[in-house]
Amino acid sequence: MAQQLLSVDQLTNQQVLDLFEVANNCLLQLDSPSKRLHRLAGHVLATAFYENSTRTRLSFNLAAQYLGMHVVDLNVATASVQKGETLADTLRTLAAMGVNVVALRHGDEAIHQKEALPVCKAYDMGLLNAGAGKGTHPTQALLDLFTLWRRWQGELNGKIVTMVGDIAHSRVAGSNAKLLQRFGVEVRCVAPDIWHPDEHQPAFMQVSRFSNISDGLADADAVMALRIQHERHGDNPMQGFNVEDYQVNHQTIKWAKPDVAVLHPGPMNRGVEITSELADDGNFSLIHQQVRHGVAIRMALIAWALNKIV
Ligand code: NCD
Repeated sequence: MAQQLLSVDQLTNQQVLDLFEVANNCLLQLDSPSKRLHRLAGHVLATAFYENSTRTRLSFNLAAQYLGMHVVDLNVATASVQKGETLADTLRTLAAMGVNVVALRHGDEAIHQKEALPVCKAYDMGLLNAGAGKGTHPTQALLDLFTLWRRWQGELNGKIVTMVGDIAHSRVAGSNAKLLQRFGVEVRCVAPDIWHPDEHQPAFMQVSRFSNISDGLADADAVMALRIQHERHGDNPMQGFNVEDYQVNHQTIKWAKPDVAVLHPGPMNRGVEITSELADDGNFSLIHQQVRHGVAIRMALIAWALNKIV
């Protein structure tokens, strides 16, 4: 039976660590064409992205190709959804054509659960949530944790990770907060009032909140800068604060540990939530590694969805 991943809640900590072991092996396969084992040859991945993406969609696509799979990308702008087709019918169509696993991104936070999951179960098709509205982004949280786990040689317990910026509208923040806390990491949020997450959201109940970046970064082991999610603001204006006060840069990271790790899920708006100089500073920035690790984590997750060993 194929498996469907909608949220990090579905995986136990042990399953997460098992995925990391697989992803470590997959990283070796990334290194050169001759090391790729193509263990999933003959299987088919479809990407179906109803929201924009560069690294998530391409990393799913390349992850599948590195495993020897066939890949098909649904071009939503020219697909039959524009003629009124439902997501369920599009997924049935993919299943009928022999697709084994779908990576699905959609702006509707509930649609994976309500519409995609029943169809994928009915047709024994794997499903990997590649981003759901402002709700969840489990594969990003897994690749971020994998990046920190490697950086800290597996020692996550007791570390401090500070997220900075538009936390309220970020699906990356919620999935990360949940997963990091399960591994004993202290999670902090730094944001102006209007970007702080709802305190009743389970992911954020235990996090500490700061409006001042110097307080929130004090002694932090890692800082995660988040893009301003303009597309989710609707008519709510950004007011009552200065965006510059929430910028991650060489000055602000001085409050953190000297070897602080700097993360950003991408896409970055250089000079807004993070400076170009810091994003490109290999002494601190893990942003390039995050992208690379994203391919390995997605190779591991595709194998998980298909119950295969890679
Ligand atoms: C994020 C997303 O789409 O949620 N990007 C990503 O998947 N790497 C973050 C963002 O858009 O700001």
